[in-house]
Amino acid sequence: MPDAPQTIDPDGRLGHPQVRIDGRAKVTGATRYASDIALPGVAHAALVTSPIVRGRILGFDLDAARAMPGLLGIFTHRDFADAIRPVAHLMAGGYANTSHRPLGSDRIAYAGQIVALVVAETSEAAHAAAGVVRVRYAPEPFAGGFDAPGAEAVRLADLKSDHADPRVGDDAAGFAAGPVRIEARYETPIQHHNPMELFTTACAWEGGRLTVHEPTRYVEAVRHGLAAQLGMAAADIRVVSGPLGGHFGSKLALSQHTAPVALAARRLGRPVSLVPTRKQCFTIANYRPESRHHLRLAATRDGRFTALVHEAEVTTSRFDPFAMEGTDVTARLYACPAIRTEERAVRIDRNTPGPMRAPPEVPYLFALESAVDEMAEALGLDPIELRRRNDTDREPIAGKPFSSRPLMACFDAGARAFDWARRVPEVGAMRIETGEGAWRVGLGCAAAVRPVKTGPATMRVSLDAEGGARVETAHHEIGNGIATLLAMGASEWLGVPIERVAVGLGDTALPAAGLSGGSATTTSLMHTLHLGCGQVRARLAAAAATGPLQGVDPASLRLAEGRLHAPDGRSLPLAEAVALCGGTVETLAEFVPEGAKPGALDAVRAGRIALGTGGMGETLSWGFGAQFAEVHVHAETGVIRVARLTGAFAAGRVLNPLTARSQLTGGMIWGIGSALLEESVLDRGRYRNDDLAEYLVATAADAPRIEAVLVPDADTAVNPLGLKGLGELGIIGVNAAIANAVHHATGRRLRRLPIRAEALL
Ligand code: MOS
Repeated sequence: MPDAPQTIDPDGRLGHPQVRIDGRAKVTGATRYASDIALPGVAHAALVTSPIVRGRILGFDLDAARAMPGLLGIFTHRDFADAIRPVAHLMAGGYANTSHRPLGSDRIAYAGQIVALVVAETSEAAHAAAGVVRVRYAPEPFAGGFDAPGAEAVRLADLKSDHADPRVGDDAAGFAAGPVRIEARYETPIQHHNPMELFTTACAWEGGRLTVHEPTRYVEAVRHGLAAQLGMAAADIRVVSGPLGGHFGSKLALSQHTAPVALAARRLGRPVSLVPTRKQCFTIANYRPESRHHLRLAATRDGRFTALVHEAEVTTSRFDPFAMEGTDVTARLYACPAIRTEERAVRIDRNTPGPMRAPPEVPYLFALESAVDEMAEALGLDPIELRRRNDTDREPIAGKPFSSRPLMACFDAGARAFDWARRVPEVGAMRIETGEGAWRVGLGCAAAVRPVKTGPATMRVSLDAEGGARVETAHHEIGNGIATLLAMGASEWLGVPIERVAVGLGDTALPAAGLSGGSATTTSLMHTLHLGCGQVRARLAAAAATGPLQGVDPASLRLAEGRLHAPDGRSLPLAEAVALCGGTVETLAEFVPEGAKPGALDAVRAGRIALGTGGMGETLSWGFGAQFAEVHVHAETGVIRVARLTGAFAAGRVLNPLTARSQLTGGMIWGIGSALLEESVLDRGRYRNDDLAEYLVATAADAPRIEAVLVPDADTAVNPLGLKGLGELGIIGVNAAIANAVHHATGRRLRRLPIRAEALL
């Protein structure tokens, strides 16, 4: 490989804790999020959304709204229906979070659907005017949930052509061979992303060119999606997404509110900015759908699984194919000769759901890892020991090997850090007394696993004669610290101080890159950067080898501390090498991961999803973890407190332990909210608790002692740098670990999330 880059130096910057390069700006408030952009002459938009779930708009009464001071325009389907063309959902090869066409007709397909856009001189005036828009509706019957009349179950395999329910062996024979059996049903609720930064957009035209400032994880999808909706050339649209103020799985791709705002800006001849309300963010974007699971598990008396059946259902909208493929993971986690799964999506009258941090693993592993705990209890076996007896280095469906399988290493490291040995096996045997009364103490654990994803990306890497480096790509800083990692990598691989590395992200004017999601960011971008730095190094080395470092093998030159170093001890300042190349050395890296589908890079350039094989190729590559929870349950009131969480995680090479721990502990804190607090409650088809007063998320007061242990995972087969990504791993398994701990404390097996005190009374 002529461009062979330097590998990771154990004494270098990568792999050691590095404070975020954007940390100071964030904590001092200097960071500008997309929502902070104040465009000159901007007008402000507000949304009117449907209170009915299904039916038809009969008419509007706009007189009161039109009379409001500062009103500039009111736009409904009568204004925009033909102006916005349909765009497919991103899982159907399109760009959109929902294929439902905004302001497309008089039909109402779900509660909270956008029915009008009101624009005024100020945000206050726009919201006031939106508040007096009167809409007359003809409501129709609707299906609001799983069992409602009109709900339509579809096998996932029929919904998604690339899904096959994992199956192996004969489950009847498996149950016959396993005398110890568990059968249980589990349920998880609707959960909504509630990032601090709302789902905003701001659109400005300059001649025929449109610029959009919007928090999104995929600027290219927004750009190409808008181009398709508005019948424009993608080259005439620029999408800028500064650092995101949180997303958690939302802010995915083309949002439905962007095209109406862009059209309003064009018609009014001035920029328009939309800040929806928190309530509207429950329906104009995606969310985690409810799920239910039927688990049957059989084992021999010595704890070997003989059969596993996992049937699951999730809800989805009438019109989109979003559904999660959770049995891909639950069917492959443990050794078992007979496995049968079936997944169904149930179409109902709801806005389209979407990914939320570890989309399938959070609900599906809640079910499986609860069932495994129930089996351990039935067998009278320690839950870790049961997992050890069913550990495997080959997945059971097709017998494919894992590139590494440190699951039990995680359980062992976690058990040590958590002091699992102090757990008294008998249920209800551990108690403490505090000033608040008597508490039952429970200790529970669960596995966390997630397939590795990698995507193609392009990146410009440059080095100037003053020793400054630039790294630029249309990928996004979603809060995970990728800007810091890129600066660390460029510093190490180009041999420049980290302070001299400038990182540009989140703009379609930069080289194309894919969706920032699927825990694929570090893996995708660090390989792209590695390639780019290798190309820069090769150019410098070739010039040096024909000049001052005459005779040296160019491939042997290393960049470090501002110099090119030859193995014979000679060296050359980088500035001189750059000058030999005629000034700035600039290169475009085009990274395509091994095993990517043909055309993956073109797909990313066109704003489509191209996230590799998802760790499910001929060799399975997964990240692993083990979660441990200690809960205290008040003996009289049933109040549940998580006293301690320990997670041990093995997810390949860790490049910045500081941001890695931050990702993992953040996920674990969210896991507490997921297990005990979060649920969107439906009332007659509408979300009832759609604000932060009633939709409860975990706060600092809910967060106990949390420890994330990093377990070594030297997986050289997964990819050249041994990276797996861990953005989503930290939340996985927390639900089950807490539910299992509650059972250990109280003897009550709670199979529906969130677990609330009232369920224990
Ligand atoms: Mo995934 S929740 O879209 O990063």
